[in-house]
Amino acid sequence: MKDYHSTYAFEKQDRETFWLKASKSIDWIIPPKIALDDSNSPFSKWFPDGKMNSCFNAVDRHVLAGRQEQTAIQYESPITGQSASMSYGELKKQTEKFAGMLNEQGLKKGDRVIIYMPMIKEAVIAMLGCARIGVVHSVVFGGFAAAELAKRINDCKPKLIVSASCGHEPNRLVHYKPLLDQAIQQSKYKPSKCIIYQRDAAKADLIVGRDIEWYEALASATPANPVALSANDPLYILYTSGTTGQPKGVVRDNGGHAVALCWSMSNIYDVNPGEVFWAASDIGWVVGHSYIVYAPLFAGCTSILFEGKPVGTPDAGVFWSVIEKNNVKTLFTAPTAFRAIKRIDPEGSFIKKHDISSLKYLFLAGERADPDTILWAQEKLRVPIIDHWWQTETGWSICANPVGLDQLPIKIGSPSLPMPGFQIEVLDDSGNVLANNVLGSIVIKLPLPPSCLTTIWGSNNTFVEKYLARFPGYYETGDAGYLDDDGYIYIMARTDDIINVAGHRLSTGQIEEVISEHPDVAECAVIGINDELKGQIPISLVCLYPDTQNSETKICEEIVQLVINKVGRVSSLKKVVIIDRLPKTRSGKIVRSTMVKIANHEKWMIPATIEDATVLDEISRALEK
Ligand code: COA
Ligand code: AMP
Repeated sequence: MKDYHSTYAFEKQDRETFWLKASKSIDWIIPPKIALDDSNSPFSKWFPDGKMNSCFNAVDRHVLAGRQEQTAIQYESPITGQSASMSYGELKKQTEKFAGMLNEQGLKKGDRVIIYMPMIKEAVIAMLGCARIGVVHSVVFGGFAAAELAKRINDCKPKLIVSASCGHEPNRLVHYKPLLDQAIQQSKYKPSKCIIYQRDAAKADLIVGRDIEWYEALASATPANPVALSANDPLYILYTSGTTGQPKGVVRDNGGHAVALCWSMSNIYDVNPGEVFWAASDIGWVVGHSYIVYAPLFAGCTSILFEGKPVGTPDAGVFWSVIEKNNVKTLFTAPTAFRAIKRIDPEGSFIKKHDISSLKYLFLAGERADPDTILWAQEKLRVPIIDHWWQTETGWSICANPVGLDQLPIKIGSPSLPMPGFQIEVLDDSGNVLANNVLGSIVIKLPLPPSCLTTIWGSNNTFVEKYLARFPGYYETGDAGYLDDDGYIYIMARTDDIINVAGHRLSTGQIEEVISEHPDVAECAVIGINDELKGQIPISLVCLYPDTQNSETKICEEIVQLVINKVGRVSSLKKVVIIDRLPKTRSGKIVRSTMVKIANHEKWMIPATIEDATVLDEISRALEK
């Protein structure tokens, strides 16, 4: 059964047999006899009677199978000029030690650890070390500000935080430690210990009694064996943007996650043990969790850990040089990275300087892959360019072109067809199934397949309210789009206030909350507008209190800085436009979609429900300035 259509149909018809067979790709302490227990829907449980350990599956089993000398993690840091290989044998030693250190610090199964680190191998060791003893990790992206870190500390209450002295961005150091200190100062909940990895570029001051230097903490630790966990025990929490300033903690289990990711490596990505897989993302995002850390290691591959940017570190040829040096077979990144390369090197002259014949596929995800970028990559790389669609909540792709099964015809603009277990429908606002080629809300029929979120940390209600309540029996993806006559999906927009900036998911509501804190701001709206490089970028439209004494220029600068300080530079808010009024409907709702059209120079019409249409002309003029 090595073709897509029969594989998908088989799963639909006999889910138990399909997933029990797939479950054999991982090593179990007690193998499951049941694939899905859906008796407490929507809280379905995958492999409920199985016991296993994710770290053992990512590390130890490969050492036992004779892969101890094979490189597990290849660290490539063009930004610091360093590169280093870590074998499976060495990774095992390090994770054993890290897990032993957690034991020594009194952490137990189910306790949480926040990992706030740059792209260094210690971040991977920390993730796997937690998984080894059932401690739940929560990695926070390094580009977030202290206030965002504080929200996550308050929500998941980590006993311990692992961080580093600094990270490297082009032309500047990001000092993590002061941000960590500020976050702990701001948070109500306080962790008892922080483990700090000191990097050469900047050493951090440690707080006596709370902070312990990484090597010192690990020195006396007794190596710890992997513990037997239920397949349904949580592996990690990963926070993602919702419609408000409060991020949602997506909870992922151990067993279903390992099984789905293993299935994806051979069937979607066509990667075999010993081959080199590179997800050019960040461990702070879901792509990094699934395809820098867990999936390539579950599959016994070599995973590239890349600390750099596609351009400027040092040039637009760095991707090709890493591919050549390491014989990368599969590259996975966001379209933004390719737009950045194409902009600087439209002729692809850097590509010609390297032998990239090892590269067999380029996978794109995280945002809409625009046809120009796909066509450019096709022409320059001469390998299949595969767009696939997924979310933090699902942990692996909902729709893809599974090249390990049989490569389906590529339709540019579509991430192809649903993967086994994902039954997709497109609904209208009343929940009716729409005909092909008609735009609506994209939903997935329950139960969700393995590796999808099991709940939102600390709130089953939020899980139900945010994802399941609007369309009973379905998971609401928050994406709008349509299915064509061949069942190919087209993702067109979000149905909520989420925008996608350089493949990073951001909430406009969250940025609005921060801007509203400025004392001169009476009201504001943040919208995502088209951007040639980043896909979308936020701009803010702001109404000031009439009695403000400050200049507009000063206020705009302060707003930009406020967003950097409170959300992080990753928000990329650079433009603030001062206006007299916001356009609203008669019931007081801000008319965002029309403002987006105006800002994007698209055709727009006056909404029937608008209170005063003249304000739209005022906005149009203000945006032109
Ligand atoms: N720590 C601290 N700051 C960070 C950071 C981190 N880990 N990651 C990004 N930032 C900062 C950047 O320095 C930048 O600051 P600036 O605006 O003051 O220059 C800001 O956050 C915005 O970052 P980004 O959106 O990444 O833009 P960029 O200009 O630095 O780089 C690209 C643009 C296209 C090169 C970059 O976005 C990229 O490589 N994207 C690939 C896509 C990707 O990794 N997606 C993840 C999901 S798959
Ligand atoms: P994240 O949770 O950060 O991975 O972001 C998920 C969101 O990114 C999805 O809900 C989509 O809006 C968008 N997205 C991811 N992959 C694609 C894709 N291939 N095409 C279009 N949008 C995508």
